[in-house]
Amino acid sequence: MTVGIVVVAAGAGTRLGAAEPKAFVPVAGKPLLWYAMRSALRATALPCASSSGTNSLSTELISVAAVVVVVPASHTDQAAELVEPLSREFAVPVQVVPGGVERGDSVLIGLRWLPDGCAVVLIHDAARAFAPPALFARVAAAVDVTTPAVVPGLPVVDTVKIVDAAGRVTATPDRSALRIVQTPQGFRRDMLERAHAEAGSSATDDATLVERLGAPVRVVEGELTAYKITTPEDLEFAARLAAQSG
Ligand code: CTP
Ligand code: MG
Repeated sequence: MTVGIVVVAAGAGTRLGAAEPKAFVPVAGKPLLWYAMRSALRATALPCASSSGTNSLSTELISVAAVVVVVPASHTDQAAELVEPLSREFAVPVQVVPGGVERGDSVLIGLRWLPDGCAVVLIHDAARAFAPPALFARVAAAVDVTTPAVVPGLPVVDTVKIVDAAGRVTATPDRSALRIVQTPQGFRRDMLERAHAEAGSSATDDATLVERLGAPVRVVEGELTAYKITTPEDLEFAARLAAQSG
């Protein structure tokens, strides 16, 4: 299966509050973007083992045909220098482009730069720098004709309340039906392009846009290590993962 990957890294990282944009914050000597890119590229040649088991006898491998990295306009040169050795090591073309105001704008820009021939696309947050390569393969493997959108998700351990503006609880959803959703999210490219064109770009993830079209979205098992690095405390776990990742 040939996939194209868009890594969105154009955010400011306001909540992290570092001197540089979040994707360029170093952990164990390398920027977060470097870890995110290495995981994405390491997915190449992994088997498409479907979590549902339906593809378990398949010997098909993931082939990452191209990666587009979307970064702040101020950091395109720095990003290009950073990804060049990885692009060479994995023999995958990597394109660096400046991003947009909102995350959805950056995704749309990334999609436009993906070469033809990537019928399946994975959209990934650089802020989830330690999402393992196997997660990319698991998500990509689950995208097919009847499942145009796939997201990794984890069960919710806390009880969740829905509240109104005054802080009054209006409902308590059944926790067993809730999932915390991560990236990489996988899509049939035609479906995601249609979703961005018709369903607007104002959403915190891409699957939401596909849901607005009424198309099916499936959840596969997520990974704890695919958490989103958001606040300074999140960097402590990142440092531990960097030390283990080798
Ligand atoms: N992102 C992007 N373009 C934007 C905004 C966000 O490419 N205009 C990316 C971020 O770089 C990140 C991912 O989308 O990899 C998820 O966004 P988030 O975690 O919110 O990152 P930031 O927007 O950078 O952080 P903050 O909201 O704290 O400023
Ligand atoms: Mg943000």
